[in-house]
Amino acid sequence: MKYIIVLGVFICCAKQIYSDNPKVAAVKNFKVITGPEVYDKDIRPNLGENASVQVNITMHVTDYEFNPITRTFSLLLCLIVVILQEMTMVMYFRQKWTDPRLVSNTLTADVIGGKSIIERVWTPDTFFSNSLDVNIMKYPTRNLFAKVLHNGEVYYSERIKVVFRCGPQISIKSDECDLEIESCK
Ligand SMILES: *[C@@H]1O[C@H](CO)[C@@H](O)[C@H](O)[C@H]1NC(C)=O
Ligand SMILES: *[C@@H]1O[C@H](CO)[C@@H](O)[C@H](O)[C@H]1NC(C)=O
Repeated sequence: MKYIIVLGVFICCAKQIYSDNPKVAAVKNFKVITGPEVYDKDIRPNLGENASVQVNITMHVTDYEFNPITRTFSLLLCLIVVILQEMTMVMYFRQKWTDPRLVSNTLTADVIGGKSIIERVWTPDTFFSNSLDVNIMKYPTRNLFAKVLHNGEVYYSERIKVVFRCGPQISIKSDECDLEIESCK
């Protein structure tokens, strides 16, 4: 009877080791290769090779609204009315780049997660240069999706609300509005 119990425990442990899901292995490997001793997220990809890093951006706009703002100035005896347009936009702002330090030669599964995943790696310092306000959607959790592929590709998507100035408009009917995106690094 004792033998049976011992054998039972062994089979149970063995099953746990060999049923190690590739997705679990990918997360564990990701944590090793982004550990503080081996990965510095303040150093951007390709910096050592003096090469740039290409960040591809797409936006999935789910809602937008024009907010016309009228400003009146007096110049000598004339009243000048300027119509400024602002726009409020809700979107999934998606960025994609490749970080060669995250390449895994042994694993094929991808690491999928949110804030805790993206906080371990370098991220671009992209910003909207004509924005008046930017809000991230953070309740009940950050509306953030991150994916690190085994080939080093990082995919970072976050739902945000941006308010930005369109520039002076001649006609209120004009529905053109430029959102400017810049990066400093
Ligand atoms: C990168 O640039 C620096 C300074 O211009 C130079 O000293 C270094 O050799 C370059 N490295 C590579 C890998 O080209
Ligand atoms: C970014 O876009 C370019 C051009 O479409 C493509 O060649 C490149 O592979 C893309 N990079 C990533 C990381 O998706």
